[in-house]
Amino acid sequence: MELVQEAQRFQFTRLSSPSDTDDGSDVAAGLAAAPKTLPCKYFYDAVGSQLFERICDTPEYYPTRTEHGILTRHAADIAALTGPCELVEFGSGSAAKTRILLDAYARKADEVHFVPIDVSESILRASSRELVERYDGLSIRGFSGTYEQALAALHPAPAPARMFVFLGSTIGNFSGSERAAFMARTRDAMAVGEYFLLGIDRRKDPAIIDAAYNDGEGLTARFNLNLLSHLNRRFHGDFELANFAHRAIYDTRRHQIEMYLDSLVDQQVTLLDLDLSVGLEEGEAVRTEISKKFDPGELTAEFAGHGLEHAATWSDDKEWFSLLLFRLGAQQGGNGGAAR
Ligand code: SAH
Ligand code: AVI
Repeated sequence: MELVQEAQRFQFTRLSSPSDTDDGSDVAAGLAAAPKTLPCKYFYDAVGSQLFERICDTPEYYPTRTEHGILTRHAADIAALTGPCELVEFGSGSAAKTRILLDAYARKADEVHFVPIDVSESILRASSRELVERYDGLSIRGFSGTYEQALAALHPAPAPARMFVFLGSTIGNFSGSERAAFMARTRDAMAVGEYFLLGIDRRKDPAIIDAAYNDGEGLTARFNLNLLSHLNRRFHGDFELANFAHRAIYDTRRHQIEMYLDSLVDQQVTLLDLDLSVGLEEGEAVRTEISKKFDPGELTAEFAGHGLEHAATWSDDKEWFSLLLFRLGAQQGGNGGAAR
C-alpha cells in the first residue's frame, strides 16, 4: 500500500500492484475452469479504459447517454434528498457522469470530498487531476485497486454523511453470488443512514442490447481482445490476438449479455509469471464478461435483504435505465456507525 500525493487536493492510495496482492490467481483459476473464463477487471489497463470511453460514444451503446440524461435531470433531487455528502464511487473511470453529481453537491456545500475507486490507475489519475482543477472546493482521496481492497482500506464514516455511488450498471458485471458478496462487504463498510446510489441497465428489446455490444466500428471487439494484451504485459504471456474473435450474445433467459473470445485455432498459451500453460481448441470459447440487465423491483427486494431501504427511483422516458437510491436502515451498519 502506497500513498501518492498527485496534486494539490488530490491524493490516492495504490492498493494493487502486479507483484503483491494481485497475483493473477483469478486468471489461473478462470483458465482452469470448464468452460474457461477470464476476469473482466483485466479489460481496464490504460488502453482498455480509453476504448471503454470510445464505446460510450458509439451510437449503439445507449447506457452511458441514457444515464447521463437521468443524472442531468435529477442530480439536484438526489442532492436534496441526501443533503451534503462525501461521495465514494466504485469504478469511477473517467468520472464524466460523476461531474453532474459533483455540480449538484458543490451547490450545497463549499467543500466536497470525493473518493474514487478504480483498478485502472491511469484513468483514476487523469480524471481526478481534471476534477481538482475544475472544482475549487473539491478534495480527492482515491484508491487505485479493486473494490474489495478499497472497501477494506476505507476510512471510517465522515461527517456529515456519505453516499456510495455505483454508476454505469457496472454492478451487472457481477454474477449473482459476486453481487451478493460485494453488497455484503459494502453494507459492512456503511454506517446507518448512509446512502447508496446505483445505476442499472434494464431489460428491453434484446436487439437493442445486442447491438450495444456489437458496435459497427468494432470498438467492443477491440476492448474484448485488449484483455489479452493486458494479460500478456502483466503476466509475461504470449496470447496471439489474431487467434481470437470477439463474440457477444444476449441470453434472454438469464437476462445477460455474455462476451466471449473464441479461439480460432488449436493453440497453446503460456503465462510465464503464473507458471501456466493452457491448451485451447479451435472453436473453444473463453467467457470474458457478463452484463446483466435488471428488473428494478427485483433488485430493490434483494437490497432490502442487505438492510438497504429503497428511497427513490429515477428513469428515462423509455425506461431503459434507472438510478436507484438506497439508505442503510437502523441495526444494519457494519461500521459501528450510529444513526445520523
Ligand atoms: N463509472 C464509469 C465507468 C464504468 S467502466 C461509467 O459509468 O461510465 C467500469 C470501471 O470500473 C472501469 O473504470 C474499471 O477500471 C473499473 N473496474 C472494473 N472492475 C473493477 C474492480 N474489480 N475493482 C475496481 N474497479 C474496477
Ligand atoms: C462497465 N460495464 C458496465 C460495461 C457493460 O456494459 O457491461 C462494460 C462493457 N462491456 C462491453 N461494452 C461495455
